Amino acid sequence: MEIRVQLTTTPKRKPESTNLGFGRVFTDHMFMMDYTPEQGWHDPRIVPYGPLALEPATAVLHYAQAVFEGMKAFRAQDGRVLLFRPRLNLERLNRSNARMCIPPIDPEFVLQALKQLVNLDRDWIPTAPGTALYIRPFIFAADPILGVHPARTYKFIIFLSPVGSYYAQGINPVSIYVEPEYVRAVRGGTGEAKAAGNYAAGLKAQQAANAEGHAQVLWLDALEHRYVEEVGAMNVFFKFGDEVATPALSGSILPGIVRRSVLDLLRSWGMEVSERRITIEEVYEAHSSGTLKEAFGTGTAAVISPIGRLAWRDQVIQVNEGRIGELAQKLYDTLTGIQTGRLPDELGWTEEV
Ligand code: COI
Repeated sequence: MEIRVQLTTTPKRKPESTNLGFGRVFTDHMFMMDYTPEQGWHDPRIVPYGPLALEPATAVLHYAQAVFEGMKAFRAQDGRVLLFRPRLNLERLNRSNARMCIPPIDPEFVLQALKQLVNLDRDWIPTAPGTALYIRPFIFAADPILGVHPARTYKFIIFLSPVGSYYAQGINPVSIYVEPEYVRAVRGGTGEAKAAGNYAAGLKAQQAANAEGHAQVLWLDALEHRYVEEVGAMNVFFKFGDEVATPALSGSILPGIVRRSVLDLLRSWGMEVSERRITIEEVYEAHSSGTLKEAFGTGTAAVISPIGRLAWRDQVIQVNEGRIGELAQKLYDTLTGIQTGRLPDELGWTEEV
């Protein structure tokens, strides 16, 4: 399919690289295409970034039939623009599509479209340490019909946002509230898909956690409220003595690309790594006995975010005395080093635009 290109006639001023925050400014262009059962995905185009006109009855606004992805492009010192394991995101997008009754996309075509878009807006890629061009592909149900059923028509859009760190704290350790009552996802639900509604479901608990000074919520399993699952915008790892453990993918946890990359790196370093069930009691007991060495989150937006404090019921503990752990720092340096071309990409994870 040929991608039609309409360039903006009013290019925007690019922001300073130093105080970007996360997802507040958007580049000049976006990619779009439409789906109908008759034509499949069609009319791929790059157009100026701007508002969409939608009827109030548009299905996604009512029933949240929508999925999304999060990826990043980096500018290497030699000027190359690098994507990080983009095919894994597009494969995951299709798994999310399947769960949400959305027609699949062609990952190779979308990757080419995404590269064309990033290349067009490449001057927007920030270069300050810890910054990147965040890429947000998403698909939503576009039928203006109120009956509850999978839509016939969809829109697929990719837009771009120069970003700094996800948390105001940067790479400094965050405080996390362990949610004892609300749940994010239940096995058999949509928790392992990157479905828009999963994030709405988490807002109530996050609001309460924020009000008490915590950055985010650590979700426990929905049945027993014991097993650690994930932290809304990131997967979670614990270092117990020499073992680095993360919750096994149970069906209600998002299979993160950075989670997978951290597991690959740790294994390549010969470390003892497990994907298994972890109870919140185990985390607290390890803290009491002195074997809980570090805790950190992983995600595209969050990169590696050390956890300095956990609050579960009335028990607040400090992890690694609230400091960045040695392992979290090493993972952060290695991952961002590979992503930005500063370190050799021995595992073949980056792809040039
Ligand atoms: C990402 O890490 O890219 C995500 O999609 C998390 C997000 C909700 C900010």
